[in-house]
Amino acid sequence: MLSRLTLFVSLFCAVTYVSAHGYVQEIDIDSPSSKNSGYLPYTDPYYNPVPQRIVRQIPGNGPVTDLSLIDVQCNGWTEGGYTTAPAPIFATVAAGSQVHLNWTTWPDSHMGPMITYMARAPSDITKWNPGTSAVWFKVAQTGKTTDGKWAATDLLTASNSIYTFTIPKNLKAGQYIIRHEIIALHAAYTYPGAQVYPSCIQVQVTGSGSALPTSFVSFPGAYTASTPGIVYDAYTNTSAYPIPGPAV
Ligand SMILES: *[C@@H]1O[C@H](CO)[C@@H](O)[C@H](O)[C@H]1NC(C)=O
Ligand SMILES: *[C@@H]1O[C@H](CO)[C@@H](O)[C@H](O)[C@H]1NC(C)=O
Repeated sequence: MLSRLTLFVSLFCAVTYVSAHGYVQEIDIDSPSSKNSGYLPYTDPYYNPVPQRIVRQIPGNGPVTDLSLIDVQCNGWTEGGYTTAPAPIFATVAAGSQVHLNWTTWPDSHMGPMITYMARAPSDITKWNPGTSAVWFKVAQTGKTTDGKWAATDLLTASNSIYTFTIPKNLKAGQYIIRHEIIALHAAYTYPGAQVYPSCIQVQVTGSGSALPTSFVSFPGAYTASTPGIVYDAYTNTSAYPIPGPAV
């Protein structure tokens, strides 16, 4: 009875917040083909047993704005005493495969870039926490097109809320965290203001490639108040948008 009530309340809240924020609700991999549910913060915790996901737990559909917190890595929640633990399972993906990330309905007002990083786990990904180590490299990014279209709003809506990126073709096989994010810029004319919505997805990459990048960033660390693109007036600035973080 009590848990049903909790579920009802949380679903109700989910519905009322849906117009304001979001998260990745499904991960579809081309090769080998699989469909994987994301971590669903408004229902998963209320099931017994809790469903096993390939995405690290998030507290809800809200953003991280203090870029100095560990929260900015996988959307943990320091203030709530919540730390992002590894997820119990992972998906398999071939190097060179496309991966489609299905976002919940994203508000039109929350313009901004969509950025994807990866980090190679030194050992079992279901036990690995990168902490503040510099282990992340960027594999994809989309910001503002030359005709003023934003990745997180115009382009994501045009693709039915599906964001697609490719696992680098020659990436060395192994276990990786895919850290994908939207940075919403509707309040980014000052700092703090930019809203980061990260997700950490666990995969095993297969293939015969041997490529690994040589430079890495950390989260927190990669973004600060002075990183280009963190403070940006998206309403009035008509010049190109500098996507935060390192080159792809
Ligand atoms: C996105 O995921 C939701 C929930 O699993 C599903 O209902 C919807 O059909 C998916 N969208 C697309 C375009 O596949
Ligand atoms: C527009 O954004 C660019 C990149 O962040 C910045 O260099 C420039 O100063 C901004 N322009 C105005 C008018 O604020």
